[in-house]
Amino acid sequence: MLKWTGSKRKQAKTIVEELPVNVERYIEPFFGGGAVAYLAANKVENIWGNDLYTPLIEFWNMVKNEPNELINIYRREWNLLQENFPEYFYTVRDRFNLNPNGLDLAFLTRTCVNGIVRFNKEGEFNNSIHLSRRGMKPSNFESIVEKWNLKLYKFNFTNLDYREVLDSTKKGDVIYLDPPYAGSNNRYIADLDVDALFSELDKLNSKGVKWLLSFDGKRGNTNLEYPVPKELYINKQFLSNGKSTLNQVLNGTSEEVLETLYKNF
Ligand SMILES: C[S@@+](CC[C@H](N)C(=O)[O-])C[C@H]1O[C@@H](n2cnc3c(N)ncnc32)[C@H](O)[C@@H]1O
Repeated sequence: MLKWTGSKRKQAKTIVEELPVNVERYIEPFFGGGAVAYLAANKVENIWGNDLYTPLIEFWNMVKNEPNELINIYRREWNLLQENFPEYFYTVRDRFNLNPNGLDLAFLTRTCVNGIVRFNKEGEFNNSIHLSRRGMKPSNFESIVEKWNLKLYKFNFTNLDYREVLDSTKKGDVIYLDPPYAGSNNRYIADLDVDALFSELDKLNSKGVKWLLSFDGKRGNTNLEYPVPKELYINKQFLSNGKSTLNQVLNGTSEEVLETLYKNF
């Protein structure tokens, strides 16, 4: 649905296979584009998606509760873009940066270069229009929204800091954490305090709550590992995220990206 930076689309199938058999409630405190939750919904009935970024949660609530309105507005905006190409993209981008909202976010992500959501230090959306394409066709947008909408009756969304979410977890919950990585925080709206994250994992361990964490990794020969303290987890594996599109776009190289998956069970 959304090519969110750090999307786990390529690893989603493997991560879902790693979930325990009985999941009373599945929780993603760093929801983003929800690539893993989308597949988890095939085997879990109760899902809680949370993200700190307000326009994103507004967007997901529209996919869930007002899909037709979302589709119609996208069609209207896309038509305006065709009539006034590419200027209309920048009209929407300026409007969004003055008043960030879920509807404009949907439009920008479907029309910008490679669909990559990117913010500058001030938190403004700064990707440009994809000139050689004319934005995702409304009929394609519609079918993606409909596919997601069919699953979202199982989901509840909140817009909180992940620590608030973790505070209200209990035994029987399974949490998949995919925080913004250390060293790549300029690609996100919020920096992450890694020590605070480790202390949250420790609290989950004490409560007996199961968790999986995507964290650091390797890009080609560059080691991006940021060690998670050994006493916090039981299992660690590397998953391939394929070739890095972002790296390809930014640096013209295409090295394989491996990311770690830690589990406390
Ligand atoms: C790596 S992305 C998640 C990608 C997601 N797994 C996917 O497949 O699309 C991390 C997300 O965490 C969110 N985030 C950053 N800081 C947060 C915080 N303190 N609490 C909750 N969410 C946060 C960001 O807005 C971003 O959407």
